[in-house]
Amino acid sequence: MKRRAEELIRALWERRSLEKLEYEELLSLRDADSAALLRSLAKKARESTYRNRVFLRALIEISNVCKNDCLYCGVRASNKNVCRFSLTDEEILSSCAEGYALGLRTFVLQGGEDARFTDKRLTSLITNIKRTCPEAAVTLSLGERSRKSYTALRNAGADRYLLRHETANAAHYASLHPENMRLETRMRCLSDLKELGFQVGAGFMVGSPNQTLSHLAEDLQFIETFRPQMCGIGPFLPQHDTPFAKEPAGDTDLCLYLLSILRILDPALLLPATTALATAHENGTILGLEAGANVIMPNLSPRRAKENYVLYDGKKITGDQNAANLETLKQTLATAGYVPDFSRGDYRKEHHGTL
Ligand code: 5AD
Repeated sequence: MKRRAEELIRALWERRSLEKLEYEELLSLRDADSAALLRSLAKKARESTYRNRVFLRALIEISNVCKNDCLYCGVRASNKNVCRFSLTDEEILSSCAEGYALGLRTFVLQGGEDARFTDKRLTSLITNIKRTCPEAAVTLSLGERSRKSYTALRNAGADRYLLRHETANAAHYASLHPENMRLETRMRCLSDLKELGFQVGAGFMVGSPNQTLSHLAEDLQFIETFRPQMCGIGPFLPQHDTPFAKEPAGDTDLCLYLLSILRILDPALLLPATTALATAHENGTILGLEAGANVIMPNLSPRRAKENYVLYDGKKITGDQNAANLETLKQTLATAGYVPDFSRGDYRKEHHGTL
C-alpha cells in the first residue's frame, strides 16, 4: 500500500479526525489495500461499541407525494410518470402492528414533503403508535419542516429524525436542487432537530452528479463537527424520468470506503447499509456491514407503497431489504457472523473496549 495512505489511515484512527485536505488525499489514494486496512479498523471500531450486532428498523414508506423538485429524485414534483400514493393512518398503524409482531422496535416513517401530513395528523399518529407499540422508537423522515412543527412532533413522542444534508457544499447543493431549496435551510432544520433532542440522521449520496472528492471531504468534516447520531449514505443511482437520467451511478467501492471512514471517526455512529447500496451491488448489505455499517432497514411498506416509492431505477424490494424475509435475513447475517438486534438500538455515547 502507498505509505501516505497508511499514514493518513493511522492518523484517522488516532485522532478520529482529519483536516479537509487530508480527507481529500485519503479518498484520492483509495486502492484495494487502503480499503482493506480501513475495513479492518472500522470493524475494530464497530466491535468496540456494538460488537457484531446489527440493528433492524422497519421502514414504512408513507407517501411519494412531494412538493420538491430535487433533480436526482424519482418522486420529484414534476415527474408526471409516478403513480402517487399516500397511506392512510390505518395503513400506517397496521404496518406498525405487523412490524411490532415481528419483533421490530423502530419504525421509520419516510415520505416526500406531502402536505397531507399536517402536524395535527402526525402528532396523533405518533401518539397512537406509541400507545399501541409502547417499546418502539419512532423515527421520522419527512423532509424540511418548521421548528414549530419539529417541536410538536418531538412533544408527541417522536424519537429520531432522518434528514440527509445531501452535500455540505453550497454550490454543489445548488446544482442538485431547484432555486428555492437552500443548503442553509437544510442546515437550519438539522440544528433545530438536534436542539429539540431528536437523535438526528444526516447523510449524502456518493457519486451524485458534479460531486468531487473535495465535496466528499467537506461531507466528512461536516459529520465530524455536526456529530449526527446517524448517517445514511448510498451510491447515487439514476432514475430515468429525472434530469439526471443519463448520469453515471455512484461507485459502490467508494461508498464502502466512506462507510469505513465514518465508522472510524465515530465508533458509535448508527450507520445503515442502505437500500441504494443493496440495489447497486447484489451483496451490498453484507459488504456494507463488513465496511462498518451496523443498521439494516427492512422495508415493511404495503406493496403499492414499496413499488411506487421509486427514488431511483432498479430499487431492490426483495431479499434482505424486505421485512417479509426476516428469517432469510437472520440466516444471511448469521452466515456472515452477525447477530440481528431487535432492541430499539439507540445511539450510545459511551465507547467500550480499547479504542
Ligand atoms: N439515487 C440515490 N439516492 C437517492 N436519494 C434520492 N434520490 C436518489 C437517487 N437517485 C436519496 C436522497 C434522499 C434519500 C431519501 O434518498 O439522499 O435524502
